[in-house]
Amino acid sequence: MSFTTVGQARERLNRSELAVPGSRTELFAKAARSAADVIFLDLEDAVAPDDKPQARRNIVQALNEVDWGDKTVSVRINGLDTPYMYRDVIEVVEGGGSRLDLIMIPKVGTAADVYALDMLVTQIEQAKGWIRRIGFELIIETALGMANINAIAAASKRNESLHFGSADYAASTKARTTSIGGANPDYVILTDKDATGARQTHWGDMYHYATARMIVAARAHGLRAVDGPFGDFSDPDGFRAHAKRAAVLGCEGKWAIHPSQVALANELFSPSEAEVAKARRILAAMETAQKEGKGAVALDGKLIDIASIRQAQVLVQKADQIGDHAR
Ligand code: COA
Ligand code: MG
Repeated sequence: MSFTTVGQARERLNRSELAVPGSRTELFAKAARSAADVIFLDLEDAVAPDDKPQARRNIVQALNEVDWGDKTVSVRINGLDTPYMYRDVIEVVEGGGSRLDLIMIPKVGTAADVYALDMLVTQIEQAKGWIRRIGFELIIETALGMANINAIAAASKRNESLHFGSADYAASTKARTTSIGGANPDYVILTDKDATGARQTHWGDMYHYATARMIVAARAHGLRAVDGPFGDFSDPDGFRAHAKRAAVLGCEGKWAIHPSQVALANELFSPSEAEVAKARRILAAMETAQKEGKGAVALDGKLIDIASIRQAQVLVQKADQIGDHAR
């Protein structure tokens, strides 16, 4: 390891993060009863401009009156370039901050954006005399935010997670797509001709680089990495494929923009029994190996070494975290 140690943000399960428009009060109690790990009540893009003042009032009331149980509750405020953001923060945090776990900041572009929010939230917490600190989840969804991602990740002790938002990111980078997180038939590799002259088309993931970069920045700063929305909620197979790719790279969860995506996200971001059983076998085999003074041994005909312990611990710790939450 480096001589620099990376402190970890507060631990929370973040497999599924259900989006709920702040204007649709009839959904609040349903969201609270859902199996989502995190609920975010939205003041930004799911709420029309004229509805923002009422949505703020709805959210304050819901923070105070809905029984959220042990859920992590977040509010997505409007961007720093809008005339709404300051009121979002002041009204929601002053009125409902004692039950608010996180503030989700959209379209973060620079570390100073996070700093400004930190200052505002700090003043409100001090004025209220609250000891508990509200955390930040930051959406990386613009070219500017991606360019400044490391400074953004380091910008506040409140930071808990980075999220990749593909739709706004595509718009910001002028990518040619109109889907929210879907596969793109124009992002392909065509193989060379085989002996019969046939060529194959392999679909690629146009968000691979952005997702991977977001994960590295998050992990380098001890934050959770969370994948954003998949808009086609009538395509569970598409969601599965997308979520699995994100999980394989290191994301620990994904947004759900419809309740049908919550169970899928919980399943796909929980290590399977088979994965955990294998990880425990690796740990047991390495414990025996180390007692025998060996750093590398064979298990099922494959090399395992001390790095295998670290890989296996990631899976076992996640399984334990999920087990603790279930109890
Ligand atoms: N949270 C909790 N419950 C929800 C919900 C949500 N976000 N979205 C839908 N439901 C409920 C519905 O009320 C309905 O409940 P019922 O069975 O008791 O009647 C059930 O789930 C099925 O909903 P359905 O009719 O399929 O959806 P809809 O047409 O009412 O709404 C969306 C579809 C996409 C508009 C809605 O899911 C939504 O607003 N999602 C969040 C969008 C958002 O916040 N986007 C911003 C982030 S990208
Ligand atoms: Mg967005």
